[in-house]
Amino acid sequence: MYWLAKVTAYRILSALPGGAVLYRFIQERVTKSLVPASERVSQKIDVGLEYFCWLANHGLRERLIEGVHLDFGAGWHPTIPLLYYCLGVKRQHLLDVAANLDGQMLGQTIKAFLTVVTNPQWPHRAKLGRLPPQLENSNWREHLAAMAISYHAPYSDTFAALAGSVDVVTSTQVLLYVPRPVMPGLFSQVHASLKPGGVFMATVHLRDILAGNPHTSTDKYNHLKYSPELWERWFNSSIMSFNRFKAPDYREMLERAGFEVVHFEEEPATTEDYAELDRIEIHRCFQHYTREELAARGLFFVARKQ
Ligand SMILES: C[S@@+](CC[C@H](N)C(=O)[O-])C[C@H]1O[C@@H](n2cnc3c(N)ncnc32)[C@H](O)[C@@H]1O
Repeated sequence: MYWLAKVTAYRILSALPGGAVLYRFIQERVTKSLVPASERVSQKIDVGLEYFCWLANHGLRERLIEGVHLDFGAGWHPTIPLLYYCLGVKRQHLLDVAANLDGQMLGQTIKAFLTVVTNPQWPHRAKLGRLPPQLENSNWREHLAAMAISYHAPYSDTFAALAGSVDVVTSTQVLLYVPRPVMPGLFSQVHASLKPGGVFMATVHLRDILAGNPHTSTDKYNHLKYSPELWERWFNSSIMSFNRFKAPDYREMLERAGFEVVHFEEEPATTEDYAELDRIEIHRCFQHYTREELAARGLFFVARKQ
C-alpha cells in the first residue's frame, strides 16, 4: 500500500507543471530528506573508502590519486569527491542528469563531512592529507574549482570532451535509475571516457527503491509482478524511475561496451527476503533469472577498459 501511494505521488508530481521544483521544495522543507545528516555522510564515506581500498589492493591507488576521477550521478552531497580531495586526488569531474547540487547543499555537506572526519574516534584520519575549506560566503562553483572539482549538470557534451582522459569512474546508487534504452549507450560513453587500464566502479541497489525500509518492508519484490509495458505506463515517471535490471544484465551490458569485468559482487538475499519473494507471482519477463538473481539485494562491480 505504501508502495502504491509513493508511486502515485511521484506520478502526480511528474504530471504537474513545475512538479520537479515542487518535489525539491517538499524534499527540502517537508520531508527534510536532503539534509546531509552525519550518518548519511558517514555511510557514503564508507562507500568511497571501499572503492579506494579496492583500488589500493589492486595496485591502482596512484592511478586515482595522480589521475582524473569522474563521479557519475553525483547527487546532492558530494561526499565521495570531498573524501578523494582529502586523499589527494588531483582532478575530479562530477556529472548529473539534474542540477541537484547547489551552494546550500555543498556548504552543509562540507560541514557534515568535517564533523565526521575530524572526530578523534574516526579511524581513517591519518589517511587524509588535507581537508576541504568551509564554503562560508564563496561562490560554490568557484569553491569546488579551487579543489580541482568541476560540476556538470546536465552533462550532454561532457563525456565527449573527456574522451580517453579519465582514470577512475565511480557511480554510487545511480545506475538503477537510468532508463533501460539509455544504459548501453551510457556504458559505451563511460568506456570511451576512460584511459586504457582505467576502471569503472559502481554500487547499485537491486531491491525496489520504491519500497520502504529495506529491513522491514514487504514491498521490495513488487516490481517483479509487472510486465515492461505496465511498468513503464503506470509506475515510472520523470521524477522517479527504476529500470529493474538484475545483476546479469549489468554484466552483459558492461561486456558489450568492451569492459573486462574484474570484480562482481552480489549482496545475497536473506531468508526473510526469500520468503517474501516466494509470496510474489513473478511476471514471465523475469523468469529467465535464477531465484538468487531475482532476490539479490545489491551489486558492487569493477570493470576495466583494456
Ligand atoms: C540516489 S542519488 C545518488 C547520488 C550520489 N551518487 C550519492 O551516492 O550520494 C541518484 C543520482 O543519480 C542521478 N541520476 C539519475 N539518472 C541519471 C542519469 N541518467 N544520468 C546521470 N545521473 C542520473 C540523479 O539525478 C541523482 O542525483
